[in-house]
Amino acid sequence: MAQATFTGGEHQQMEYVPLMSGHKIPLVGLGTWKSSSQATNSVSTAIAELGYRHVDTAAEYGVQKEVGRGLKAAIHAGVERKHLFVTSKIWCSDLSPERVRLAFNRTLQDLQLEYLDLYLIHWPFHLKEGASRPPKAGEVTEFDMEGVWREMEKLVNEKLVRDIGVCNFTIKKLNNLLNVAHIKPSVCQAYSPLGSQEGGRDLVHDPEVDRVAEKLNKTPGQVLVKWALQRGTSVIPKSTNPDHLKENINVFDWAIPQQDFEALSNIKNQKRELDGEILFVNKSDGPLKSVADVWDNED
Ligand SMILES: NC(=O)c1ccc[n+]([C@@H]2O[C@H](COP(=O)([O-])OP(=O)(O)OC[C@H]3O[C@@H](n4cnc5c(N)ncnc54)[C@H](OP(=O)(O)O)[C@@H]3O)[C@@H](O)[C@H]2O)c1
Repeated sequence: MAQATFTGGEHQQMEYVPLMSGHKIPLVGLGTWKSSSQATNSVSTAIAELGYRHVDTAAEYGVQKEVGRGLKAAIHAGVERKHLFVTSKIWCSDLSPERVRLAFNRTLQDLQLEYLDLYLIHWPFHLKEGASRPPKAGEVTEFDMEGVWREMEKLVNEKLVRDIGVCNFTIKKLNNLLNVAHIKPSVCQAYSPLGSQEGGRDLVHDPEVDRVAEKLNKTPGQVLVKWALQRGTSVIPKSTNPDHLKENINVFDWAIPQQDFEALSNIKNQKRELDGEILFVNKSDGPLKSVADVWDNED
């Protein structure tokens, strides 16, 4: 059940839902992929000035030190760590039991934190250190799911992480995980709510999104963030633009009418934009020879 808290002033209202651990995830968070050197400023502005309480990052984004500096600045400005929700992800080259702890410690150090709120498996494949993109034969393999998860569970038991979860898992892989997990995954992350940036899909200029935005006197970005919330997920739009940062969190005191929500849900030419092809598909030597292989032929 969502819980609303009004923080007042410049800050926007924030809503939360509880995860498996009982800890609450703020429904809107800040994405940081491709935020580069601007991450420090956007993270600190978002938290200290705009009321964001949730930041999503990953070792693979190469911005954790910048995010860490932003978090530190926000904490210095008076926001308590216990009111923040920080997510990071373990990258594919660290997806073996003996490397989980090392990868996690590096992430904590870069973020200048003593614990994480959520630690996710970024993609469910093991990449050899230094693997090419796309990987050559033998550079991508299945990973030891049970062994890796056991190590992640230890992090929870030691109170270094509050919740653990996954991204880019198929139903088949989720079921495999549920069969071995002592601590169940709390989250299967949904992402790129605005269609992502280069290489993604420009949903911000989609005519249907534009139509609804004009009707509701909101921006297209706000409509897309709100659509995700009304669909029942948390949402992590990335921005380093101060106006967009402000817009993307100003989504709690209005609603998309049902008919418009349905029109948005039925936008044409829907497809998964980030399909893992560049990262994992090796058409000649496999083991993942196609995008369908990446997704276990599930869609
Ligand atoms: N688990 C995974 O495998 C995975 C994969 C991809 C992403 N993610 C996470 O999800 C986050 C979001 O996804 P994403 O970064 O791919 O893309 P996104 O949030 O869908 O879109 C970001 C793009 O939208 C622009 N934008 C932001 N707010 C806007 C607004 N109000 N109006 C117009 N344009 C706006 C941004 O530009 P400006 O910066 O200029 O505003 C940027 O170009 C990532 O940053 C990352 O944290 C996770």
